[in-house]
Amino acid sequence: MASLTGQRVLLCVCGGIAAYKAVELVRRLRDAGALVRVAMTEGAQHFVGTASFQAVSGEPVRTSLWDAAAEAAMGHIELARWADRILVAPATADTLAKLAHGFADDLVTTLCLATTAPMTVAPAMNHRMWLHPATRANLALLRERGVQVIGPVDGPLAEGESGPGRLSEPEDIVAVLARSAGAHAGDLAGLRLVVSAGPTYEDLDPVRYVGNRSSGKMGFAIAAAAARRGAEVMLVAGPVSLATPAGVTRIDVRSAAQLRDAVLAALPADAYIGAAAVADYAPRAVAGNKIKKSSDTLTLELVRTPDTLAEVAASPSRPRCVVGFAAETEEVEAHARGKLQKKNLDLIAANRVGVQGSGFESDDNALTVYSRDGARALGPAPKIRLADELLDLIAERLRA
Ligand code: C5P
Repeated sequence: MASLTGQRVLLCVCGGIAAYKAVELVRRLRDAGALVRVAMTEGAQHFVGTASFQAVSGEPVRTSLWDAAAEAAMGHIELARWADRILVAPATADTLAKLAHGFADDLVTTLCLATTAPMTVAPAMNHRMWLHPATRANLALLRERGVQVIGPVDGPLAEGESGPGRLSEPEDIVAVLARSAGAHAGDLAGLRLVVSAGPTYEDLDPVRYVGNRSSGKMGFAIAAAAARRGAEVMLVAGPVSLATPAGVTRIDVRSAAQLRDAVLAALPADAYIGAAAVADYAPRAVAGNKIKKSSDTLTLELVRTPDTLAEVAASPSRPRCVVGFAAETEEVEAHARGKLQKKNLDLIAANRVGVQGSGFESDDNALTVYSRDGARALGPAPKIRLADELLDLIAERLRA
């Protein structure tokens, strides 16, 4: 039996026909040991009455920001703080859009914006709305921020159509929540992690730079997973257009030199995870004006950049676990182990080359993590899952 014993779940119910299933969801959550409070959007109340939720949750149900009596009993900020987890189910296309863009124009969206608790959404809508590029983009943004998405599933929909858009079954939603609560709940609490992510850009002149194709997705996934597991996370991000994961403090940098300064200033920490693809060379000087095409060839003089990872590992405030990444195209193990030794690292995660769909811009990846005394193959799996597996290895070392 799935267990959510003692977990305080704030269930936000939105306006879709699947709202009726949320009544059953409350029962299942309570059966699994959770304490449940319910907030409803205006739309949700057209499908199910507050009395049903009140009866199954055993708690007063909130429907409005402007209910003076309810606010006096437990203010909405207090309610947002009360929650160990926010579950939005069913999550409509409209609410997902509002959450993705930070709207707070009703009780549910305000609660979602005011909480620091991890968030799970279980979408349900017409399949064409689910497949619409706007909904896909909103979901992608929420996922980047570390929001857990459950479903929807394929099947018959309310309007006599069929497709992906049905709310996941309440028992499946509870099972997923219990698994994620049990697996890593707060196991990194009390630890401080510094993570670097993304590329660096080394400016040539006011309009050009030398950069690389790193998307930052792996590092952001690590930061998101670590924060979800209770760590204090400082994310030093190169130029990427990814949303900041919930609970993560982010510092944006551009060049390798700026990355170094930001990372060293963020120490001390228990672990440093250098997932950034830092430029090894930068132009010796940045031209004050745009470089003109005056000759057939142009020679750039590049100089070595500081090696942040090696500096962190050699620093007097060296984190107990220093982790590097190795993007290699050949002789992966030899090069990775060479770096482990040379830079005095605890772990180095090498991309397994030749694995379909892995690498820089992909959402999936496959890594082999080398330590002095062994190697572990992780994935192929979504970067979000790999992040948790890598954090398991780091947590193991920090506990040792
Ligand atoms: O030696 P190489 O650049 O392949 O090593 C990659 C690892 O070193 C990554 O973890 C990267 O973040 C880090 N690195 C760094 N500073 C550099 C170059 C690489 O921190 N200037």
